[in-house]
Amino acid sequence: MYSSRMSRYKHRYKEAFFLTHIKFNRKTPAAYDLLMSRRSVKARDMIGPGPDRAMMENILKAGMRVPDHGKLAPWRFMVLTGDDRKRLGDLIAAGLIAENETSEKIADKMKSYASQGPVLVIAISSPSAERPVPVWEQELSIGAACQNMLVAATALGFASQWLTGWASYSKTVTKGLGISPDEKIAGFLFFGDHGEKIPSERPRPNFDEHVQWGLPG
Ligand SMILES: Cc1cc2nc3c(=O)[nH]c(=O)nc-3n(C[C@H](O)[C@H](O)[C@H](O)COP(=O)(O)O)c2cc1C
Repeated sequence: MYSSRMSRYKHRYKEAFFLTHIKFNRKTPAAYDLLMSRRSVKARDMIGPGPDRAMMENILKAGMRVPDHGKLAPWRFMVLTGDDRKRLGDLIAAGLIAENETSEKIADKMKSYASQGPVLVIAISSPSAERPVPVWEQELSIGAACQNMLVAATALGFASQWLTGWASYSKTVTKGLGISPDEKIAGFLFFGDHGEKIPSERPRPNFDEHVQWGLPG
């Protein structure tokens, strides 16, 4: 009798504590809804002005609040707005020509790639080879950072898309951006406002094909 009353009391106390005091890991069903309904918005469909500097700081801070083995912070972010995106577009076009990838005409068209959305974040994996944490694990952390930024942007009311493509692997582009040979571009993340166009839902993976409950055999 006593123990069941005690456990009920403990349970209620725990609930009350969680509801009123706790500032972390709060039960937030709306956050789960957001994870299950988030869609990328094509960068070319975004409109301006998009997130301002204060909003971008919030988004980037969410990007840095990720699991990170060894607390190495093995990433950095380059935020481009305005003319910087045009300069990146020119660099991409120059890279396409220098690396014999395409004709001048197509390279010219690619100049607008970086100017698709109003804000572009180049997410860079910047692992440390001197630390005992495998580089692969450090690279996983930038993936988490990118996804956190997309989710944060969505939660704050902005559209976002994670792209890579030829430019993220180009030596001309990475060198021109001051990215060292040990670093990698994990993504060009575009942020903006939603335009008129509703982003279509893509087919989602078949749950059972990707989940195994228990050990094989
Ligand atoms: C590392 C990475 C690179 C990607 N690069 C491209 C890309 O270059 N072009 C593209 O159309 N989608 C690319 N995607 C996919 C989109 O970001 C996105 O997943 C897709 O457009 C829609 O899925 P979502 O609505 O679940 O975000 C990439 C995804 C990842 C994780």
